Amino acid sequence: MQIKFKSLKLQNFKSHRDLTVNFGEVTKIAGDNAEGKSTIGESISWLLYGIDLLGNKLDPTPVTYEADETLVSLLFNDGQKDVLLSRGLKKGRASYYINEVPSKAGDYNELLDNLFDKDLFLSLFNPNYFFTMKWTDQRAMVLQYVTAPANKEVFAALPKAQGDKLAALVKKHSLSDIDKLHRDKKKKLDKQYIAAQSKTKTLKEQLEEDAPRVPLESLQAEKSIFTKQLNEVQEVINSASSTNNQINTLNGRIKALLDERSRMQEQWKILKAETIEDTCRTCKQPLKGDAVKAAEEDKEHRKANFKTTYDKTVADRKALEAQLAGLTFVDVSEQMAKAQELQQKITPIEAEIRNHKQFEDKEKQMHKAVDAEMETLDSLNESIFIVDAVKAYYAKEAELQAAKVDDLLDNLSIKLFETQKNGEIKTTFEIQMDGKDYRKLSLSESIRAGLELRDVLSEQSDVITPVFLDNSESITRFKEPLGQLIVSRVVAGEELSIKGADE
Ligand SMILES: Nc1ncnc2c1ncn2[C@@H]1O[C@H](COP(=O)(O)OP(=O)(O)OP(=O)(O)O)[C@@H](O)[C@H]1O
Ligand SMILES: [Mg+2]
Repeated sequence: MQIKFKSLKLQNFKSHRDLTVNFGEVTKIAGDNAEGKSTIGESISWLLYGIDLLGNKLDPTPVTYEADETLVSLLFNDGQKDVLLSRGLKKGRASYYINEVPSKAGDYNELLDNLFDKDLFLSLFNPNYFFTMKWTDQRAMVLQYVTAPANKEVFAALPKAQGDKLAALVKKHSLSDIDKLHRDKKKKLDKQYIAAQSKTKTLKEQLEEDAPRVPLESLQAEKSIFTKQLNEVQEVINSASSTNNQINTLNGRIKALLDERSRMQEQWKILKAETIEDTCRTCKQPLKGDAVKAAEEDKEHRKANFKTTYDKTVADRKALEAQLAGLTFVDVSEQMAKAQELQQKITPIEAEIRNHKQFEDKEKQMHKAVDAEMETLDSLNESIFIVDAVKAYYAKEAELQAAKVDDLLDNLSIKLFETQKNGEIKTTFEIQMDGKDYRKLSLSESIRAGLELRDVLSEQSDVITPVFLDNSESITRFKEPLGQLIVSRVVAGEELSIKGADE
């Protein structure tokens, strides 16, 4: 898109009561100091945005003469059509005209916004303007027109391991999320790793302390000797105890039968002494002859039954006594002592064997802990690797982007990034010419720097505008800039002269 100025008309704009400029490809303005050269350029930024060439608010109302209204009109071509814009100022009230039609400020500004970005236009029109912006805006403007390197481009420029790792990870997360994720993970894993290390250390120390002194095989051999002996003794004790138990049982049962005999003897006395009453025990009526006899028979019957039971008790006891007589009590106290002695030997051996088993378990635990520690270390290293890879990515991206910008520049160089002490990349913006900071440049050097930069911006943005090169007498040579050139020069003793189209 190319903006071409055709003509400019100033009425009561600062020192200019009435001035018309017809622009050519090059428009030369000359004249002594204070002849109104700068004012011409200024009138254009005022017409468009109500500001001076450096972006400050401007009131162009003449102060040296009486004037009804200030009015600036610019006829230009926007690449397709001619546009005539005018801005007026009368007693502090602004007025706007688009192609001579009075317009609202909003419509006027909208038309301009649709044409070009304000900062871009001012940067292209006045080579000094760019440097008056905040560095962040300067940076944004330069980068706006330089495409950032694509992910793939950066991955390819990184060491292969880093590039491959990030290429795989970005399928799932954004780079900044990957960074956040693994910084957080690293923090946690750092702690986890320290804990894992101390756990294995404790387990190893414990193992050293608890290590069994006698080998398991010796313990088992020793135990089996004592167990065999114990089993033999136990067998004796067991078989003895079966006989002895039998004797005890028999003695118990004989005693019970003896007790039963004594009780029955007492009952016998009572039964024998029982008298036969001749009156009824309940109604007290004298019993008849048969009844008495029946009572006597009943008593005899009961006595006979009793005797049978008594005889059986005695016979049972005698049978048990005969059985008892066939058994001999076996004394196993010696064997019991021996068994106890053997058990006392076996118990500590068993404890030692258990200790072996526990030791094996602890060993397993320790190996598990070592594995866990190694796993944590692997994950930790992975996260460290990824965080470093992201850092390297940003550094490489910055490097590639800076290289792209650098490719556009001849004498200038632009620093877009700065590596901090911790290795992280910080954005910055510094323009240098021939290795010198912009701020250190001489007047002519800074004009040349401005011209080079505005040409780069013009090329990259595809917007070509006229450039107003004020005070050109202070610069002896410069490369012809892109777009129409409006150049002013102080010439001592001369009145204002403007040589533009056809002049
Ligand atoms: N509002 C105003 N009304 C009237 N005159 C003004 C107003 N503002 C500035 N001037 C004067 O207009 C004149 C022209 O100024 P201008 O800056 O355009 O001169 P110049 O040709 O660029 O001079 P130099 O060579 O010193 O840069 C100066 O005398 C200045 O004091
Ligand atoms: Mg001037």
